[in-house]
Amino acid sequence: METLPVALAVRDVEPEDLPGLQWSGGSAHLRAVAESWQRSLEGEVVLVCVEASNGQLVGLGGLDLSKDPVAGELWMLAVHEAWQSLGVGTRLVRALEQAAAQHGRTSVQLSVEDDNPGAAALYERLGYREVGRRRESWPLDDGTTFTTTTTLLRREL
Ligand SMILES: CC(C)(COP(=O)(O)OP(=O)(O)OC[C@H]1O[C@@H](n2cnc3c(N)ncnc32)[C@H](O)[C@@H]1OP(=O)(O)O)[C@@H](O)C(=O)NCCC(=O)NCCS
Repeated sequence: METLPVALAVRDVEPEDLPGLQWSGGSAHLRAVAESWQRSLEGEVVLVCVEASNGQLVGLGGLDLSKDPVAGELWMLAVHEAWQSLGVGTRLVRALEQAAAQHGRTSVQLSVEDDNPGAAALYERLGYREVGRRRESWPLDDGTTFTTTTTLLRREL
C-alpha cells in the first residue's frame, strides 16, 4: 500500500477555530466548545485541536484540570470522520496526557459510553483500564438533556 505522509500539529484552540470545528458536533456541542475555550483562559481546562498541513482542523480534545487534584480528565475527544483510524486520536490522547503531566497530574481518566466499543478499544490499547461506572448527562440540540451511564477508564502517567 502506498502511504502519503501528512504533517499534523497539535495546538491550543483559538476562537477563530470554531467554524472549522463544526464537523465535531451540533449547536449544543459547539456552545460547549466555546465555553470550554473561555474556561481555558482561566487555566481550568486545556483545549487542543489537531491541524493538518493544509490548515484543516481534523481533531479536537480537552483536558479538564478542575475536577480532581490528582487526575486530569480527558473529554470532548473527536476526530473528523474522514481522518479516523489514522492515528490522530492516539496523537490527541498522548498530547493531552503530556499536558496533564505538565500540570502536575499523575493520572488521566475519561469516560466512554457503552455503545462506543471502538473508542473503548482504542483507550485500552493506550493503557486505560476500567475503574468504575458513572452517570453523566449533557445538553442536546433540541434543548433536552441526555443522561446515560458510562465506563470510567484511567491510566497512571
Ligand atoms: C474515538 C476517536 C476519537 C478515535 O480517533 P482515531 O483518530 O480514529 O483513533 P486512532 O486512529 O488513533 O485509533 C483508532 C484505530 O485506528 C488504528 N490506527 C491507528 N494508527 C493507525 C495508522 N497509522 N494506520 C492505520 N490504522 C491505525 C488503531 O489501531 C486503532 O484501532 P483500535 O481502536 O482497534 O485499537 C474517533 O473515532 C472519533 O472521533 N469518534 C467519534 C467521536 C467519539 O466517539 N469520541 C470519543 C468519545 S469517548
